[in-house]
Amino acid sequence: MKNIQVGLLGIGTVGSGVFTVLQRNHDEIVRRAGRGIEITMVADLDTARAKAVVGDKVQVVADARAVIANPEIDIVIELIGGYGIAKALVLEAIAAGKHVVTANKALLAVHGSEIFQAAEAKGVMVMFEAAVAGGIPIIKSLREGLTANRIQWIAGIINGTTNFILSEMRSKGLDFDVVLKEAQRLGYAEADPTFDIEGVDAAHKATIMAAIGFGIPVQFDKAHVEGITKLTATDIKYAEQLGYRIKLLGISKRRENGIELRVHPTLVPNKRLIANVEGAMNAVMVQGDAVGTTLYYGKGAGSEPTASAVIADLVDITRMASATAAQRVPALAFQPGSMNTMPVLPMGDVVTSYYLRLRVADEAGVLAQVTGIVANAGISIDAVLQREADEVGGEGATSTDLIILTHDCKEATMNAAMAQMQALKTVLAPIVRIRKEELA
Ligand code: HSE
Repeated sequence: MKNIQVGLLGIGTVGSGVFTVLQRNHDEIVRRAGRGIEITMVADLDTARAKAVVGDKVQVVADARAVIANPEIDIVIELIGGYGIAKALVLEAIAAGKHVVTANKALLAVHGSEIFQAAEAKGVMVMFEAAVAGGIPIIKSLREGLTANRIQWIAGIINGTTNFILSEMRSKGLDFDVVLKEAQRLGYAEADPTFDIEGVDAAHKATIMAAIGFGIPVQFDKAHVEGITKLTATDIKYAEQLGYRIKLLGISKRRENGIELRVHPTLVPNKRLIANVEGAMNAVMVQGDAVGTTLYYGKGAGSEPTASAVIADLVDITRMASATAAQRVPALAFQPGSMNTMPVLPMGDVVTSYYLRLRVADEAGVLAQVTGIVANAGISIDAVLQREADEVGGEGATSTDLIILTHDCKEATMNAAMAQMQALKTVLAPIVRIRKEELA
């Protein structure tokens, strides 16, 4: 059978990896796909760089639309990124009857519904394994491996940049700003790291996983997004003393009345495997009612790890290309007509537990005042840690840190209790609140 022909839009780090791995593992991939898969056309504004990667046998153009217009191309890989031109090109490729493979989490998290509807109407596939957790086959696991299950929750370290920064903050006791600069110097963080450190990249990925896990539309605008920029080495240290590590988790959870969807720094018991995922590595935990808790670990970025995911999609499309649309695996796991209308819950309705750090005056009765407010709010305390003032602020210090770990309560209840605590004269600084998940 004729090779399936692929057009690549954007040949940077990931695109080069796709080309290299497809060439290197060609025979093995053919044995799996049942047919050759060949990149025959590449579009990149930097045509010289593209030619240096793919050589003379592949047609290189500057205009991505020339790839889409080529009737020989069966599959378009979009590796441009962002919501702008990438969105137009993906929709045009679909309209031209091409299957699409993309690593573009931002595009799918924000415009996924429009894109999946267009693909369904046209009878083509849109695949995106590389969009979440790089080389880890988490999309396939959720969409196919776990189809027997009612998924209860998904919790993942799905941003390598922030996990690297948190690991360095913990192991070296350094504050965020210092480690960010070092991460930028080493190339672990981009020159403009906003999307990573503010939690946006993780929220894009969590949004996509929630859609597949729970059969809801992609709804990035409903996600609660909180990054790591306000985390201090102090809180990481206190958390450690209490048996926890702080990780930026992307969490989605099934509740009776809706789905929680949130990204924020989270205390995780240090005995959990996921708490020990360090550096730029990614890991995702999924709990299903039948399978129990499962954990997927690997590289979340990089040339060949991400290429591994892109090529897996190419193989899947090649295998399924001759099936009718109804026989194929649905892009969001659930059949398009069977999507769930359960809402994504507002953050106030989220139920979780908390780490609170209060800078308090070192006076009699303060602990009773604070814990009284917590108790009156119906919030149960799990643990309290109070250091000697001298130990925290040095000789003669008149204030100290009071750390409280709570059991589960509603975020809105905690907000109200925090407002009361904050209003106390003996609470001297903004209260630090970090959410906690036992992931049991
Ligand atoms: N910037 C992402 C990360 C990789 O740091 O994990 C691509 O999604």
